[in-house]
Amino acid sequence: MRAVRLHEIDRENGPKNFRVEQVDDPQPAPGELLVAVRRAAFNRRDVFISQGLYPGIQLPCIPGSDGAGTVAAHGEGAQGPALGTRVVIDPTLGWGPSQRIWLRSAQVLGMPHQGTFAEYIAVPAENVHPAPASLSDDEAAAIPLAGVTAYRALVSRGGCTKDDVVLIPGVGSGVQTFVLLFAKKIGAKVIVTSSSDEKLERAKALGADVAINYNTAERWEKDVQAVDGGPSLVVDSVGGDTLGKAVNVTRYGGRVVIYGGTTGDAKIRPYSVFWKQLDIMGSSMGSPHDFAAMLAMFDPSTSSGQAIKPVVDRVYAMNDVAAAAESVDKGAQFGKVLLAVGEA
Ligand SMILES: NC(=O)c1ccc[n+]([C@@H]2O[C@H](COP(=O)([O-])OP(=O)(O)OC[C@H]3O[C@@H](n4cnc5c(N)ncnc54)[C@H](OP(=O)(O)O)[C@@H]3O)[C@@H](O)[C@H]2O)c1
Repeated sequence: MRAVRLHEIDRENGPKNFRVEQVDDPQPAPGELLVAVRRAAFNRRDVFISQGLYPGIQLPCIPGSDGAGTVAAHGEGAQGPALGTRVVIDPTLGWGPSQRIWLRSAQVLGMPHQGTFAEYIAVPAENVHPAPASLSDDEAAAIPLAGVTAYRALVSRGGCTKDDVVLIPGVGSGVQTFVLLFAKKIGAKVIVTSSSDEKLERAKALGADVAINYNTAERWEKDVQAVDGGPSLVVDSVGGDTLGKAVNVTRYGGRVVIYGGTTGDAKIRPYSVFWKQLDIMGSSMGSPHDFAAMLAMFDPSTSSGQAIKPVVDRVYAMNDVAAAAESVDKGAQFGKVLLAVGEA
């Protein structure tokens, strides 16, 4: 099969090192399904791996945590969707029995386990779910990692309700666009920030109530606080100064959920946390329950509110994988960057 492989890491030029090669087809082990991948999607994780910024890197590797395709074979004793079913893959491997916390041994698909940037992938049958019927292959492939991370952070950890005012810093992020979609489906009021007016316009078209450019606003945190006295729920992956300021403007009794730290360490004022009696929570990936509940958000027949669709920025041919990785590295996208697996 054709697969994208990474043989070396490079802090400066990592994204240029993804290349397409011919490798042996994987065989499904007992309890696994073989999925013929049609579309895969990038996450910042794939770029971080190429730059050596991810723990436990093993090379060479086939990256990619997100994939949609069809079931091509069943390993011995494997249950799950029938041959030919259109499916999406849950990228969390071995979450464990608790909804509250994953096992330390849990892994994310795509290094060290073979990832979705390949024509075939063998995964445990319980990780394979029918794709929401209302979504195209592109849209389905855009969902898994970003969707489950957003759902767990916003809903399972953040407890978002229609009465919340949710702050979403850096809405151009793949995960944050899902946080916006889910928060609006739940009926919450949403404040987004971005470096780009164009991204803010797109966020408004998806339902954002207040949109603030964090580069051009004199003090974006003041503008945020002016909305109903500040957010009751912050969902952040920016970290750094952004997180420190977001904590300062969160209203009394609010919740702050952190699932990433793109800009590095944050300085948080203890006073802001204890005096306002804030809850600060961490969140990563999502449990099998989170994944199933997240997929249901896209099924118009099982969830309430308006129909929502994942945001696809652009689909790259497999041979253009390095260009796709560089665009994710630059953060120029709004929504998900996809790879047309198998297409030259
Ligand atoms: N814990 C987990 O399970 C998990 C899962 C997925 C991702 N993550 C982490 O979450 C983060 C986002 O991932 P992603 O794939 O969604 O990334 P992404 O698509 O590359 O998005 C990064 C975005 O961060 C925003 N940003 C950067 N600097 C900013 C600043 N100074 N102030 C405000 N916003 C800023 C930008 O938004 P604008 O373009 O709108 O300005 C940028 O587009 C990464 O750190 C990733 O590692 C964690």
